[in-house]
Amino acid sequence: MLLQQLFATRTHRMKASEIRELLKLLNRPGLLSFAGGIPDPDLFPAAEFSAAFQAALQPDQQAQALQYSVSEGYLPLRRWIKGEMARMGVPCDIDNILITSGSQQALDYLGKLFLSPNDTALVGWPTYLGALAAFNAYEPRYDQLNPGGNRSPDSYQEAAGAVGSLVKFAYLSPDFANPTGETLSLSGRNALLEMAEQLDCAVIEDGAYQALRYEGAAIPPVLALEIAQKGSIEDCRTIYCGSFSKTLSPGLRMGWVVATKPVIAQMVLLKQAADLHSPTLNQMAVHQVAEACFDSHVAGLRQAYGTRRDAMLSALQDFMPDGVSWTRPEGGMFVWLTLPPHIDTAEVLARALDQENIAFVPGQAFFADGQGCNTLRLSFSVLNEAEIRTGIERLGRLLKQG
Ligand SMILES: Cc1ncc(COP(=O)(O)O)c(C=O)c1O
Repeated sequence: MLLQQLFATRTHRMKASEIRELLKLLNRPGLLSFAGGIPDPDLFPAAEFSAAFQAALQPDQQAQALQYSVSEGYLPLRRWIKGEMARMGVPCDIDNILITSGSQQALDYLGKLFLSPNDTALVGWPTYLGALAAFNAYEPRYDQLNPGGNRSPDSYQEAAGAVGSLVKFAYLSPDFANPTGETLSLSGRNALLEMAEQLDCAVIEDGAYQALRYEGAAIPPVLALEIAQKGSIEDCRTIYCGSFSKTLSPGLRMGWVVATKPVIAQMVLLKQAADLHSPTLNQMAVHQVAEACFDSHVAGLRQAYGTRRDAMLSALQDFMPDGVSWTRPEGGMFVWLTLPPHIDTAEVLARALDQENIAFVPGQAFFADGQGCNTLRLSFSVLNEAEIRTGIERLGRLLKQG
């Protein structure tokens, strides 16, 4: 018997990510890629990390830096996060915070924590591909989350009940979502909380891009709104996932979760079973760099990425043919395009690579139900303004061919 035939049913829905497969092609000379949603490596605080790693490896620190440590995470880093969450309107204790290896790990743990096979997860149509990948392993059923839209809580419950399922959580990235770049309004956030209350389900708030706002006033996190309503985080159903990937470095794999103490206590058990704890050395370095320069560094990122976003929006205005529409993100890394319904963006990508040496991500992979053939995601995070303009001009030329 082939070993593949022995794989558990949870592997049946796991498939190679289109984005990851695509990233393998991206070192072709001259290729202008709007595909990877990754930070610009030229903007990493590399000197600060170099100093921080050196400091953590000095004789007075190295025994701690190189040793096993507690699953909850490095205490000074959790204290720093507590301060940062308070600034966002989320007062909490250290024991409400767990350090994870990137927010991706938090999504996996939350899938493991809440989803038995056939349980319902509410996700956006489209939503973050990595969240679908994380949740798929727990064999859920999906339904479309559309806060403030026309679905009543009853309709979710009825649809779930009809197939013997229970709605366990709603997952969303309210600020500058991947892949659409869209932000959920204050009224949308309140509607979400009301719906979650009626469905009696959890809310998973993914704050991966939250710090990267280029215009407009910040909207409080869903968790902040819920704490304001209920008076204490311990009464809240929202679980906040944070990340240092888009602000400091994705390679260090540092993220965090903020939730009620019982949720964190259970996640600590999951973490103990999975990897004991996130790397101590990385936690110490991230703590030192965050203490030293988080705000000024993020201000620089906002300036740089904001200029690139502007370059992309004005190039789209100048070069897109009629019938193409796009989002206007106030932050983050992505613009989402919708083409006329008969156009298949997977097919356009093949021609884009071939004829114009540009890349993007076809939108279908971001839909739990396989819709979205005529959509695509563009990232403006790694190209400079001139490259963005040239790349969008090429895309416009291609789309004019139909
Ligand atoms: C919306 C969203 N959430 C979570 C992640 C995972 O980030 P990390 O695990 O690096 O914190 C990403 C990465 O691209 C993302 O776009």
